[in-house]
Amino acid sequence: MIKAIGSAFILTNEDASYVISIHDRRPTLLHYGGKVKESDIPSLNLDYSIPTGRAVYTEGETTLNLVPVEASGLGKGDYLTPSYSLEREGKTVFDFRYDDYWINEEPDGGNPFPRPRGGEELVLLLRDLEGQASLELHYIVYDHAIARYCTIHNEGARYLYINHLSSFSLDLPYLGQKGYFLSSSWGAEGQAELLDLPKGELRFKGLTGSSSDCFNPFFALFAKDAGPNHGDAYGFNLLYSGSFEISLSRDSFYRLRVQEGLPSTDFHYGIKCNKTFYSPIAILTYSDKGANGLRRTNALFIHSHIIRENFLHAPRPVAYNNWEATYADFNTMKIHSLVSQAADLGVELFVLDDGWFGKRNDDKAGLGDWTVNKKKVIGGMAALADYVHERGLKFGLWFEPEMVNPDSDLYRSHPEYVLSERKEPCLCRNQLLLDVRKKEVQDFIVKTIVEAVKDYRLDYIKWDFNRPFSDVAQSVVYDYYLGLYDVLSRICRECPDTLFENCASGGMRFDLGMMSFFPYTWVSDDTDSYERAKMQRALSLGYPFSTFSNHVSAKISHQLFRKTTLGTKFDVAMLGALGYELDLNHLSGLDEEEIKEQIAYYKEHRELALFGEPIDLSFGENIVMGAKKGDEMLISFCSGVNRPLPSLEILRLEGLDEQASYSIATRPEYFDIRDFGDMINHISPVKLKPDGAVANVVSKVYRYPSETTEVTLSGAALAHSGLKLGMKWSGSGISKTSRIMFDFAARAYYLKKVE
Ligand code: GLA
Repeated sequence: MIKAIGSAFILTNEDASYVISIHDRRPTLLHYGGKVKESDIPSLNLDYSIPTGRAVYTEGETTLNLVPVEASGLGKGDYLTPSYSLEREGKTVFDFRYDDYWINEEPDGGNPFPRPRGGEELVLLLRDLEGQASLELHYIVYDHAIARYCTIHNEGARYLYINHLSSFSLDLPYLGQKGYFLSSSWGAEGQAELLDLPKGELRFKGLTGSSSDCFNPFFALFAKDAGPNHGDAYGFNLLYSGSFEISLSRDSFYRLRVQEGLPSTDFHYGIKCNKTFYSPIAILTYSDKGANGLRRTNALFIHSHIIRENFLHAPRPVAYNNWEATYADFNTMKIHSLVSQAADLGVELFVLDDGWFGKRNDDKAGLGDWTVNKKKVIGGMAALADYVHERGLKFGLWFEPEMVNPDSDLYRSHPEYVLSERKEPCLCRNQLLLDVRKKEVQDFIVKTIVEAVKDYRLDYIKWDFNRPFSDVAQSVVYDYYLGLYDVLSRICRECPDTLFENCASGGMRFDLGMMSFFPYTWVSDDTDSYERAKMQRALSLGYPFSTFSNHVSAKISHQLFRKTTLGTKFDVAMLGALGYELDLNHLSGLDEEEIKEQIAYYKEHRELALFGEPIDLSFGENIVMGAKKGDEMLISFCSGVNRPLPSLEILRLEGLDEQASYSIATRPEYFDIRDFGDMINHISPVKLKPDGAVANVVSKVYRYPSETTEVTLSGAALAHSGLKLGMKWSGSGISKTSRIMFDFAARAYYLKKVE
C-alpha cells in the first residue's frame, strides 16, 4: 500500500514500512524496517539543521553530509558514495530537487528490464535546479518486497552522459550491522561471507558481464544482534544479469549508505535530447525474524512475482543429463542405452547435453552451427525425440545460443555477428560472444530455438553461457542485456510451455533477471554433495529451492575426487529440482535399486522439496537445511569431517505447533560393505577379508542398512529439547540407531504432524 501524507509517503507491505519525506525538496528516508504507524511520521523526522564538521551548504538549507537522501549526486556537500554520476560537456554537478509525484495502481512497465509481476508504484519526479535533466525515483510495493529503480531523462540539447547509476540508494542509521555477501567463481558459487562494515566504503564489483562470476547480486544486512530466527534482516537483489556493483559506505557520523546497480567502472553511456535511461530494477526485502525470516520472505516474493506463471507450481521433472557420463563423446547406441536405463529408474526428462551439433566433439568447434551431427545422432534429432518420448520421458537439448566458435560455419559466413570493439577479441573456451544488440543476431537466436522446439518436439532446453565478456565497454554490456531480454521474451512468448534451465558454466548467471524467464538454474558444475550443501545454504537466503537444479553424480566427484555414497548425493540434491548425471552403465544392480528408491522418495515429497519454505537448521559443522510446508518438513543433513569422540548431535526445530505431535523418520540408506574396510567384521556375522572375493560377491547382493529413526515428539519438545540424533560411530560398538557417517555423509529426514 502507498499513501501520501502531507510531504511524506508511507509504503507498507506485509513485512515492512518504508517512509520517505521531502526535506529541502529532496526525498529523504525516515524509516525502512519493521512496521510503523502513520501517526509516527512527524516524530520520525530529525532536525538536521546543526552543521557538523566542515560542512558545505546552500544558504537556508541543511548540509548534505547528514541527511539520509534517497538519491545522491556529486558536488553539493554529500561526500558519501553518489548513487548517480552524470556529465554534460565536462560538467558533473547536478542538483535534483523534488517536483512532483504520482501513484500507478498498475505499474505501466516503461522499464525495458525484467520486472516482477503486479505491484503498486510510487514515482517521485526530481528536476535539476538548472533544468535540462530530470531524475525519477520509482518504488513498487509488493506483498513481500519493495522494488526500486530510477530513470534519467535528458531535457537538454546536448548529450547527457551517465557514468554511474545505482538502482537505489538507502541511507540507514549505522548500528553495527553486518553484511552478508556471496562470492562466486566457477565451481565455487555461493560462498557466504559475513563481514563487519568498515568506516569508508566496501564495494563489490562484478565486471565480467555475467552477474555471478565474482559475486552474486544478492546480498543482505543483519542487525548486530540478529540470529537465525530473530532480528532485523534486509535483503537486496537486482533483476539484472550483467555487470553490477554493490556499495556500502559509512561516514563519520551515523549514515550507512547501501547501493546496488550498474557499475561505476568503465561505464559511460550517452543519451540524446528527450531520451530516458533506465536502471535495472532492484528488490528490497525485510524480515524482523532474522535469516530464516528473510529466506521465507524472498522465497514468497520470488515464487509469486518472478517465476513465470506457467511454472509457478509446476513440479520440475526428474532429469537425466548425459554430460558427466559421456561429455561430448557419445554415439546413438550409447544415448539409447542411457535413455532406456533412465526410463527404468523413473526419470522423467532426458537431456542431451553439449556435443550433438555441427563439428562439436570438444569445445574447439561448432558453437553456432545448430544442425544435428547425424554421425552421432543417427536418424536425426526428431528420431531421437521419438525414441525418448516413446519411453515415456520428456526430451530436452543443450544450447549455448549467445556464442560462436571461430571454427564454425556461422562465424565463417557472419563474422560481423561477433561482439567486439577490437579486431582481435580475446577467446575464452575457444569461443566468442555474439552481438545480441543486433536485430539480425536476435532473429537468428529466436529462430534457432523456436524451430528446434518445434522440429524436435523439445520439452526442455538447457541454455548455457560459458564465457565472460571482453573487448567491449560496460555500456555495451548494458545494451547487450536489453537485447538479450528482448530475445528471451520473444522465445518465452513463442514457446510458453517449454521448460528452460538457466546455466552459465554452472551458476555464473544465477540472478533474478534470468529467473524471470527461466524458472531454475544449474547451481554449479561442482556436483560434490558437501560443496553443493554449502552453496544451497548460502544461496537459499536469497532464492527458493525451486530455482536450484541439482544432480546426483558419480560416487567419486569429477571435480574434487571426493568419494560419497549415492545416498549422500541424493540427500543434498533432493532440495530443488532433482536430476542424475552419471554413467548409468556403471551402476550395479543395487545402485539401480537405490536410485529407484530415491526417485520414488523425491516424487512423494517433491512439492515440499521445491516449494517448501527454506529453513537453515545448521549447527556445529553440520549443514542442515529444511523445506517446510503446512504440517510437513523435509530435512537435508550434511555432516563435515569426522572428529574423534563425536559429541551428541541435537536437531532443534523451532516454529512448529508446540501442542501438536510430529513423526520424524530417516530416509533408509545403504552402504557398500566394502566401504567399511577392515571394519567389515564389525557388521558381518561371519569373518570376511575386506575386498576379498567373498566380500566382493556379497556386496553385489547385500547392502548394509543405515540406522533407523522413527520417533514422535511434540512441537514443544522439538523446539525446546530437540531431536537427539543417534550416536555417531566412534570406533567401538554399533547398534540399530547409531549413525554410520563417513566424512561428508548426509541423511534425509521427513517430518509430519500426526493426529
Ligand atoms: C558448461 C555447463 C555444463 C555442461 C558444459 C557443456 O560447463 O555448466 O553443465 O553443459 O557446459 O559444454
